Amino acid sequence: MKMTIKGKTILNGEVEISSSKNAILPILAASLLTDDIIEINKVPNINDVIIISKLLTQLGKNVKQEPSRLLLEGNCNAYHPPYELVRQIRASFLIMGPLLARKGKVRVALPGGCSIGTRPIDLHLKGFQALGADISLNSGDVVAKANQLIGTHIYLDYPSVGATENLIMAAAMAKGVSHIENAALEPEIVDLANFINSMGGKINGAGTNVIKIEGVRELKGIKYTPIPDRIEAGTYMVAVAATGGDALIKNIIPEHLKAITAKLIESGAEVSESEDYLRIRREAKIKPVYIKTLPYPGFPTDMQAQFMAYLSCSLGSSVISESVFENRFMHVQELARMGADIKTEGRIAIIRGVKKLTGAKVKASDLRAGAALVIAALIAQGDTILLESEHVDRGYENIASKLNAMGAQIENE
Ligand code: UD1
Repeated sequence: MKMTIKGKTILNGEVEISSSKNAILPILAASLLTDDIIEINKVPNINDVIIISKLLTQLGKNVKQEPSRLLLEGNCNAYHPPYELVRQIRASFLIMGPLLARKGKVRVALPGGCSIGTRPIDLHLKGFQALGADISLNSGDVVAKANQLIGTHIYLDYPSVGATENLIMAAAMAKGVSHIENAALEPEIVDLANFINSMGGKINGAGTNVIKIEGVRELKGIKYTPIPDRIEAGTYMVAVAATGGDALIKNIIPEHLKAITAKLIESGAEVSESEDYLRIRREAKIKPVYIKTLPYPGFPTDMQAQFMAYLSCSLGSSVISESVFENRFMHVQELARMGADIKTEGRIAIIRGVKKLTGAKVKASDLRAGAALVIAALIAQGDTILLESEHVDRGYENIASKLNAMGAQIENE
């Protein structure tokens, strides 16, 4: 698929943010913890949700998709999802914790998803082992088995989001109490814990670095609405600031956007927050900033590429240090094709502001790189053709129509 994006656009008006992709994916995996009906509301129509729904269907869940609502019900009778689905999305590994807890057995191919660095899963596996699972490798698949998971202390060497989620789900139905230390603090972890607690789980401390999980024997069906997507919100904030526009970003939790808001203000944008929306505008020139990506509440790695596009037209040199992932600068080469002046050395990028970007034919290598190129295209002179734009649809619901409603001219082909 490709997108044609007209340049020199100013974004105005308002945009409604969808539910969080990174909250919904683990929540859908956690639906495996019960056979009862789970109803998820405000489900965004994005490819990653479609893929994980297919995966759950393959495992035997009855998944009914209605406009913006998902109903999941029934026992899963399989424990080995097809490689074709698993390889498309790294989050497919999140079925491992709940299946292990409920079925005592799971087999999953090593995960796929965005091509950003090596992304190992050793922390997930070490945690499962600590809970009593037996882990082996079989023809590129990870096989985990446990008659009964037993609550324990797990110390994570790094506060991995996925490992924290997987281990919460596994421990939720283990025998006894577990503690996850050095747990990730991301809001999506808190949302997953809230979801499991409303099913009858006993999880305390989500959002802090020690999470206590008392295993329960049974979890029941519920209705749930996930939190808004802070990365989608941040992406629109940067897009508005980049184009020198003035817009309302609605359906957000401003608290989740602190690091993004701070950097936008530092760069010359004005942000005023209300309870569940904010206004962003920029009239001043873009000032260069220093950014280091970190686990939450630090600056999110998922916003790094979008900021790089924005800063490529700043008045001076900015530095971005990517500390979360190796090799997450794939957008640099494409931004350079549009006239950006960016040099990288290992995990550091130095962005020297240029007067203008120019529309070009560029390629989205992954989801956030694609979003960065959309922002660059909006501020560039001339049209941009974004190839492989399906990467963007993995995580942004109706991005073209949302931006077009704010004054952009984007066509999907
Ligand atoms: C999640 C998000 C992703 C985001 C990332 C960091 C979802 C579906 N995806 O990904 O959008 O960019 O958090 O905020 O929620 N690591 C290990 N061993 C492990 C696990 C991770 O070394 O077992 C490393 C990774 O290679 C990476 C770092 O830890 O360098 C962070 O990864 P992690 O927090 O696990 O990210 P994900 O859960 O994959």
